[in-house]
Amino acid sequence: MVDIKNVVVVGAGQMGNGIGQVSLMVGLNVTLVDIKDEFVDAGYANIDEGMKKLEAKGALSESADDIMARCKKSTDLASAVKDADIIIEAVVENMDVKKQVFKTCDENAPAHCIIASNTSTMSITEMATATNRPDKCIGMHFFNPVPLMRLIEVIYGEKSSDESIEKAMEFANKLPCLKGKRYIAKVLKDRPGFICNRVTAPVQIYNNYVFDLCAEKGISWKALDNDTRGPMPTCVLADYVGIDTLYHGQVYYSKTLSPDFAPGKVVSQLFNEGKLGKKTGQGFHDWSQGRPKPDRSAGKARIMKLKYSIAIMLNEGCRVLEEGVTTSWEVIDQVLMAGMNMPGIMGPNVNNSAKQVEVLNELIEMTGKKYFTPCDLLKSEKWVEMK
Ligand code: 3HC
Repeated sequence: MVDIKNVVVVGAGQMGNGIGQVSLMVGLNVTLVDIKDEFVDAGYANIDEGMKKLEAKGALSESADDIMARCKKSTDLASAVKDADIIIEAVVENMDVKKQVFKTCDENAPAHCIIASNTSTMSITEMATATNRPDKCIGMHFFNPVPLMRLIEVIYGEKSSDESIEKAMEFANKLPCLKGKRYIAKVLKDRPGFICNRVTAPVQIYNNYVFDLCAEKGISWKALDNDTRGPMPTCVLADYVGIDTLYHGQVYYSKTLSPDFAPGKVVSQLFNEGKLGKKTGQGFHDWSQGRPKPDRSAGKARIMKLKYSIAIMLNEGCRVLEEGVTTSWEVIDQVLMAGMNMPGIMGPNVNNSAKQVEVLNELIEMTGKKYFTPCDLLKSEKWVEMK
């Protein structure tokens, strides 16, 4: 297979321009594509700003201008992919749009070119049906912000060849990360949400319950954020990821995993009002002055409990193992740390299944959501051996 030199990123938003930036930093040529000049220009400007920051810190081996000279802009996908060795699609989470992108890429890119999707949740196998090269269609799932989060998931669609996956693993391993060594996880089965997003997905069912309860009781999002620890509080992270991304993901999971994932009232309202978080300047929080800072004066909501999130993720981790998405709980723990800076939940500290089963049953009682039913692998404790 040809060495990867020319990378095309389709979708110049937060994820797309992050993928473009790290590709440029290892000497590759990047074409940033979007449907409007203003979107491509904004993505390009973000990359340029990042490069200038790194240049000022002496962290680049070339000048920022030399690097940016390798970055092209385009609004014409068909001609942009003519010399592509790999295409990474990072457009809106809509299967029809993604399939259209895959089709155009397939019709216009060289035969050796790999077509990858950065989807958060959706089926790679289905996207590949829009092409005549399903063996070269794969998932490459990055985490936001791409230059700072270490994880990349490389995902097998049903027809992806080992060769395409190995090539993508090699490419992913070259991409720099500003905060430590990259962790590249091979995802063995094309299941909704893959590993990281899947394990954390049902926490969104619980979050939706909490958001709607807070809205009902008039509790502020700042107070709710004070309930959580970790790198980003719940509402800040939701805004950061994007309310649209969350909403589309929840709709997708509600169709593919369980109706319990249907977006709650608060998330639906924010989505319908176009309050999408960081990208629009308003979501749960106001982002016009940058990332919202914790406000201790708001007090605590005392609603969100970490023990529920841990039990939910442990149960879902066991489902991921049952389904063969990965074969080791150690991979799940590594993925959570590299993708979300979240300490592992499956290691020896948490493997008291009986206690977790009790917590899950308490959750079902509280929320009425049957998806929290403990799975067989959790109950049997056999997952502990799947190292
Ligand atoms: N180029 C160059 N430099 C950059 C840069 C860029 N693109 N982005 C950031 N930097 C620099 C900053 O300027 C800063 O430099 P300084 O130290 O000299 O000031 C440095 O990198 C660190 O940046 P921050 O101050 O923003 O970093 P923090 O220490 O605050 O950490 C964080 C930020 C790593 C994002 C942390 O808050 C975190 O871990 N949050 C959780 C994020 C998370 O969970 N992401 C996953 C979401 S889920 C997902 O993406 C999946 C998808 O499918 C939805």
